[in-house]
Amino acid sequence: MTFARASLALLALAGLARAQSDDASYEQVATIQENFPAALITPTYFPDSWFDIQGVLNVSFGGVSVGNIGDRLNLDQVQTSPTYRISTETKHADDADTFDGERRFTVAFLDTFVAGKDFGGKVNIHGLGNDYAVGDNGSLTNRSINAVPYAAPNPPANDGPHRYVQLVIQQFPNFTAPELGFTGAVGVNQSFVDYYNNAKGGLGKVVAANYIQIEVGQAAAPATTAAPAPSAVSSLAAQKSAAVSLPPSNEASTSGTSSGSSAKPSSTGAGSGSGSGTSGAMSVGAAPLAAMAGMGAAAILGALLL
Ligand SMILES: *[C@@H]1O[C@H](CO)[C@@H](O)[C@H](O)[C@H]1NC(C)=O
Ligand SMILES: *[C@@H]1O[C@H](CO)[C@@H](O)[C@H](O)[C@H]1NC(C)=O
Ligand SMILES: *[C@@H]1O[C@H](CO)[C@@H](O)[C@H](O)[C@H]1NC(C)=O
Ligand SMILES: *[C@@H]1O[C@H](CO)[C@@H](O)[C@H](O)[C@H]1NC(C)=O
Ligand SMILES: *[C@@H]1O[C@H](CO)[C@@H](O)[C@H](O)[C@H]1NC(C)=O
Repeated sequence: MTFARASLALLALAGLARAQSDDASYEQVATIQENFPAALITPTYFPDSWFDIQGVLNVSFGGVSVGNIGDRLNLDQVQTSPTYRISTETKHADDADTFDGERRFTVAFLDTFVAGKDFGGKVNIHGLGNDYAVGDNGSLTNRSINAVPYAAPNPPANDGPHRYVQLVIQQFPNFTAPELGFTGAVGVNQSFVDYYNNAKGGLGKVVAANYIQIEVGQAAAPATTAAPAPSAVSSLAAQKSAAVSLPPSNEASTSGTSSGSSAKPSSTGAGSGSGSGTSGAMSVGAAPLAAMAGMGAAAILGALLL
């Protein structure tokens, strides 16, 4: 009997651990989203309204994995084309099939330069591909030739830390890839907002995103950004959690994601900050979740063995 109960408990434990590890918390995705205004990337380069982060994006360059949003990498680490994986998603995304295999995404790798230096919202396009799909293991794979094959970052020396942003954007069935107004390996000084708008509704929300920082040499006057304000994160997390997620009603309506999360992040990224660019990122690791899963499992096990 005891043995049977223990087996049952172990089964329950396994189920629990799996369910927990598949879910991104709303706090986690809100933290990712709030990093963009905090780092002064939105609204300078992209409108905040584009963002409705619903999954955790893991970016790897060959063997080098980005651990956390805002991480600093060096040039040697980013020479290999990045691979993208949606490691966890929110319950709403799961319910709305946001990352299901039949969905398509446009994925962009963009240099948004140094915080506080604005070139009229223009970016350098280092990589751009349409028709990405999420596989069973969460990997994003392009199903057509990339419009702009990856060109490794190469920021000017002593310019300060450049923010290289990775955006995973919903791509609807009516999407037709807009013309690119440039030739060459990197699209220099391009308006990515124009690209988005030229898709005429074929692109939706940025549902997963990340950024890394790369600095060559050292800037005389380093730019400073602060970590996201905890209050902004918790209020956005509450909005996301409360948003109604509508399952896709038919094939034509593929937007899928919750419509209610009209994110209104604080644009200041305020916070008492020893914010030094390096510390601008907030950890969104899964450790607390894992700990919670562990505690829950232990509690259940304890209860069943009583
Ligand atoms: C994920 O699956 C794809 C095929 O769909 C495969 O190419 C890739 O190596 C897998 N990645 C991992 C990390 O297992
Ligand atoms: C994905 O993009 C790469 C780089 O442009 C290209 O070599 C590859 O053929 C693309 N895959 C498909 C299925 O088109
Ligand atoms: C891009 O913009 C920067 C800043 O305005 C300027 O210095 C540079 O010459 C521009 N590059 C090209 C190729 O237009
Ligand atoms: C394309 O589809 C999206 C999502 O269904 C819709 O919002 C948008 O208006 C459509 N665009 C056009 C030009 O039909
Ligand atoms: C995936 O991203 C999360 C959050 O940034 C991070 O905690 C985790 O270490 C990453 N995992 C991998 C395999 O890169």
